[in-house]
Amino acid sequence: EGRTIRFIRRGELVALSNVPPTRTLLELLREDLAATGTKEGCGEGDCGACTVVLGELEGPGDAPRIRYRAINACIRLAHSIDGLALWTVEDLAGPQGELHPAQEAMVQCHGSQCGFCTPGFVMSLFGMYQNHVARGNPVTRELAQQELSGNLCRCTGYRPILDAAQAMAQ
Ligand code: FES
Ligand code: FES
Repeated sequence: EGRTIRFIRRGELVALSNVPPTRTLLELLREDLAATGTKEGCGEGDCGACTVVLGELEGPGDAPRIRYRAINACIRLAHSIDGLALWTVEDLAGPQGELHPAQEAMVQCHGSQCGFCTPGFVMSLFGMYQNHVARGNPVTRELAQQELSGNLCRCTGYRPILDAAQAMAQ
């Protein structure tokens, strides 16, 4: 009895029929689409392990642009992304496997510490990159701290990740 969801991923229209209204975006990704790069930590919106990025048009009609938003997939209903663009950690590398600047910066700054929190951090960095760096604006320490505040690392290894956020602009 579920309705159809339509969204854009990797430049293509995805349409999924019969998605139950109570399905979360995280369940849709991991169970229906086998996109297991997005992790489940707390399942309650606290840890950021499940972070994905949504894109929607904003701005005036003659100068629209995409607003990128990092969100917690575990507390987001799948149907709420209808009509939006979606990026998961699987969607960042280029066709030849080239790393996105967010991934590159994490490698260079040794910010990739465990497989659990890292995909979520990378997605928050990706959103920051698209909203700021790609538009020619630097990432200040304050901005990095604010934008990464929803991502928890149990080992508190935050410094290299904050460094990575700022390194993306270089
Ligand atoms: Fe922790 Fe989603 S799994 S915020
Ligand atoms: Fe993943 Fe700390 S490095 S929780």
